[in-house]
Amino acid sequence: MFYDTRDNSRTLPHDPFKAIVAPRPIGWITSISAKGDINLAPYSYFNGVLSRPNLVMFSSEGFKDSVRNVRETEEFVCNLASWDLRDAMNATSAPLPYGVNEMVRAGLDPAPSKLVKPPRVAAAPCALECRLTDIVQLKDIDGKALDGHVVFGRVIGVYIDDRYIRDGRVDTAAMKPVARCGYLDEYSVVTELFRMTRPTA
Ligand SMILES: Cc1cc2nc3c(=O)[nH]c(=O)nc-3n(C[C@H](O)[C@H](O)[C@H](O)COP(=O)(O)O)c2cc1C
Repeated sequence: MFYDTRDNSRTLPHDPFKAIVAPRPIGWITSISAKGDINLAPYSYFNGVLSRPNLVMFSSEGFKDSVRNVRETEEFVCNLASWDLRDAMNATSAPLPYGVNEMVRAGLDPAPSKLVKPPRVAAAPCALECRLTDIVQLKDIDGKALDGHVVFGRVIGVYIDDRYIRDGRVDTAAMKPVARCGYLDEYSVVTELFRMTRPTA
């Protein structure tokens, strides 16, 4: 079959995009407003985009509170959403009024970050402390501005729970990161890894 995204007479009942661009890591973003209000929300349009230096991005469909806070205070933290924290992570996606702290609502304790003001989620296995580098408003193919806003940040500090460090390496599978898949409610969880060596010339 072929699904033409420009066609109104859809050949599938739901857009397959998110089921194909999957699994997507979840940036569970803590941010803080200029007034000092803390905010926490999951973003699965999230990824690392550069290694030297470490840069990450998350993309907001609409100008959501996390983007507003990062624009104001230029810092954020990407907490790792693990299997154990999946319900709490989901709870923090509730559309609460601006200034209401989703951490409290989800029963999560904050822990102070080392280098930035927004706290990390204390129970998260790891967290990336970031400083804003850029906010880009997305455009369509005709150049028309879209209500999509991508926040880029440089990772300046990395918290890792010592329980997940083995022989100097982070044991990703032991942290059981959850990732977003398709439609409204599909997720996956990483519980095992395999290794492949990259070819040389
Ligand atoms: C697993 C998950 C992933 C999500 N990913 C995104 C995303 O990439 N972009 C987005 O705009 N909203 C995403 N959402 C919805 C936001 O979390 C939700 O709109 C939230 O209220 C935004 O919070 P904020 O306004 O406090 O930033 C996601 C929700 C869940 C549960």
